[in-house]
Amino acid sequence: MLNLGILISGRGSNMESILKSIKKKKIPINAAVIISNKPDAKGLKIAEKLGVSIEVIESKGFKNRWEYDKKIISTLIKYGVTPKNGLVCLAGFMRIISPEFVKKYKNRIINIHPALLPSFPGLDSQKQALDYGAKYSGCTVHFVDAGMDTGPVIIQAIVKVKENDTVETLSKRILKEEHKIYPEAVNLFARKKIKVVGRRTIIS
Ligand code: GAR
Repeated sequence: MLNLGILISGRGSNMESILKSIKKKKIPINAAVIISNKPDAKGLKIAEKLGVSIEVIESKGFKNRWEYDKKIISTLIKYGVTPKNGLVCLAGFMRIISPEFVKKYKNRIINIHPALLPSFPGLDSQKQALDYGAKYSGCTVHFVDAGMDTGPVIIQAIVKVKENDTVETLSKRILKEEHKIYPEAVNLFARKKIKVVGRRTIIS
């Protein structure tokens, strides 16, 4: 079975939705470790409650991004999340991954983003959608490449923007969809149903 490592920075609700699906035996993958760059991330308590190993790796003291990522990689490997037998999920992990990390785990790192990429990449995507006046937004699970929110798309879900939406109300409805599509994408990966062909993913 594949080993899963999830990287978080905060609330951890996407992590929770994935871990709960694994617990219910809906996804054939071993939840090996949760790593946070923030010691006070709420998600750490949730992971502990669900009986999954946790590690905190703060970024202070590392001289560059790759030095920090090397520490993440050695921790992942310690838990069996290897470039051959692992999957790494970014779930609200608010750091940019180095190109070296991406290369080492090619097509084995996935991310969730709260917009329909390539629209509204980066931070505050829900606010960007409202400010732009978009009628629809949503969320995207995608492979991570060396760019910012640019890797091949695995699954997207559409959310209609309402005229009276605020950042909070829109974020809430998008999050509900995130909690559906992220476990679904992990499940497809675990069952080896995703093939990457150029920029496209073929789901069998
Ligand atoms: C989620 O909405 C996720 O899509 C977003 O951060 C939130 C994390 O929530 N990620 C990004 O914006 C990445 N660019 P969570 O900690 O409850 O899963």
